Amino acid sequence: MVNIKIPFTFDVIQGDPMGLSQYDSHITRRLSAMKGMYLDEHAFAALAATSDPLLYEFYEISRPAVTGELLHGLSIVHPGKVGDEYYMTKGHFHTILETAEFYYCLRGQGVMVMETPEGVWAVESLQPNRALYVPPRWAHRSVNTGSGQDLVFLFVYPGNAGHDYGSIEVQGFRKLVVERNGKPEIIDNPRWLSPKDRS
Ligand code: 6PG
Ligand code: NI
Repeated sequence: MVNIKIPFTFDVIQGDPMGLSQYDSHITRRLSAMKGMYLDEHAFAALAATSDPLLYEFYEISRPAVTGELLHGLSIVHPGKVGDEYYMTKGHFHTILETAEFYYCLRGQGVMVMETPEGVWAVESLQPNRALYVPPRWAHRSVNTGSGQDLVFLFVYPGNAGHDYGSIEVQGFRKLVVERNGKPEIIDNPRWLSPKDRS
């Protein structure tokens, strides 16, 4: 862990490939970690039968997970689809719901799918040099809609936020992002239930 009392700098992109050596934590999520999260279960099973592709990975500089700290790092969502649904992160609420998150896109094309516990939803595009502010209470999932190109972004969020995957692991987000006629389209998730209809 980085010395918590001394300021430090690092270069976000050190040439190409990116300078990832500064990060001390690297987490990968393969297809097998996303069971039940894609709508097309047959496409999921067919892909899982042949390989276990790497869908996304993220790098962090470890910091204490406490109030006052900022956890931050770099996420890479790789290009691809399960059926016609683009590769995406699991997505989550923050355990401390009243915590926000800030994103800055470095490379690629994608969207952030967001929703509140009440089911209000929003989708915002991510492209290089675009910043995104996710207010407190909004679950967030990043989706790579670019063809053949990684989606790369920085994220920053409060140290005490935590990750709550609960309802999203069960039914997903209200909206899905799929490819239709070669272009991304936002569709309703047929498995999503409004908060009052959930048991
Ligand atoms: C966050 C951060 C980041 C995130 C990864 C993977 O939202 O807290 O952006 O660390 O956890 O991008 O996403 P999942 O945690 O949803 O798998
Ligand atoms: Ni988050």
